[in-house]
Amino acid sequence: MSIAAKGKAAIARDGFATRLGVITATLGSAVGLGNIWKFPYLTGANGGAAFVIIYLACTLLVGLPVMISELVIGRKTRANAITAFQKLAPRQVWWLVGAAGVLSAFLILAFYTEVAAWVFAYVLKAIGGGILSTSPEVTSAAFGGLVSSPIQSLVWQWVVLAWVSIIIIAGVSKGIEAMTKRLLPLLFILLIIVGIRSLTLPGAGEGLTFLLKPDFSKVTGATVLVAMGLSFFKLSVGMGTMITYGSYFRDDQNIPGTATRVMLADLLVSMLAGIAIFPAVFAFGFQPAAGPSLLFITIPAVFSSMPLGSVFMVIFFILTAIAATGAMLSLFEVPVAYLNERLGWSRLKATLVTAIALAVIGSTAALSNSLLAEFKLFGMTMFDLLDYLTSNILLPVGGLFICIFVGWKWGFKELKQALSNEGKLENGGIVRAFFATAKIITPVLVFIVLLSGLGVI
Ligand code: PFF
Repeated sequence: MSIAAKGKAAIARDGFATRLGVITATLGSAVGLGNIWKFPYLTGANGGAAFVIIYLACTLLVGLPVMISELVIGRKTRANAITAFQKLAPRQVWWLVGAAGVLSAFLILAFYTEVAAWVFAYVLKAIGGGILSTSPEVTSAAFGGLVSSPIQSLVWQWVVLAWVSIIIIAGVSKGIEAMTKRLLPLLFILLIIVGIRSLTLPGAGEGLTFLLKPDFSKVTGATVLVAMGLSFFKLSVGMGTMITYGSYFRDDQNIPGTATRVMLADLLVSMLAGIAIFPAVFAFGFQPAAGPSLLFITIPAVFSSMPLGSVFMVIFFILTAIAATGAMLSLFEVPVAYLNERLGWSRLKATLVTAIALAVIGSTAALSNSLLAEFKLFGMTMFDLLDYLTSNILLPVGGLFICIFVGWKWGFKELKQALSNEGKLENGGIVRAFFATAKIITPVLVFIVLLSGLGVI
């Protein structure tokens, strides 16, 4: 028996036990630093509402169709991202799309765990009052002190890796599902509390206008590429995460319905994060265009300016840590599922090996503001390069091929069977609309935006 066959025979597959668990785990993957760190800083830096509108269009026409495609591939094959393609297209090169996905998950984790590391460190700092200052110079010095310390950057990344590993080792239903079921409701409640606080500040209106009133004069091809990259990153698609999670879906789960709900709830969280952040930023006269440091420099100063700000700041960073956790769990699960199923490794071994490999590769991101600050490739630090390469290139290219696979290789009949739960759901119209979008509209859009964003056209 080959190693792979032995592995497969030995392992009974875990999966999500309840319908609610499917939703919380999938939404837990989508909701993350993308909503609370990336969406606000990209919106802030790209002119506000116009960017939000382009992002919405990308989510509907690109993110959602790719998400449905991935989920259905996963559930149909009940396998990790690579094996899934091998099952559907044996002896063909499609498995490379899955392999690129496993690689992307790994590369995203390499920098994502570092941003999460800052968030975890900030929970402690917020509790201890170390970032309580209305002056951005002071909060900037606090952030600078954290990121320029190699030891602190590395140790907090290891703390994050250990925390996620523990949950992953516990399993799909007892770890991921159980954890996201508890944490997600808490995240919503905390976000609404902070949102109400921000909206009721005098002068909050300007921030809302920024978020809701578009000015398209700043939009370029590069802006659209960034918005599309965000829509991939946000819905955790283009890299096998949703193939892996789809493989744990129940047979009776309505995939298009679940994906649409997750997409809407994820948008809601992003808008709530925007509402929690921008009115307060404007109310206290700060700049929205600070870039990636918005969360770590501007936000603490904003909270410090408001009544009871120290309490709200602790709440805010705890909810951000929760959001980051659900997303990291799904990213981790991609390589772990592969190592577990293909090589027959136990979850414990697969998780530990992944975590150690991440500690090594991730250290390049962790040290990007200290020891490796001068080390640049294509003019970017390793941290920036990992972020740019994954969101703006690997995920869109992955998504493009996944749509081409579903639209052109798989065929409508089989897809309809799979998406209607073998004929049990009456969703012919939805499946047809999805098929046309995934077959033509999404690939064409992704292709054009990629070329124009990269300056080729
Ligand atoms: N969707 C997550 C977020 O917005 O923070 C990030 C992410 C998770 C991206 C899982 C990709 C992924 F596979």
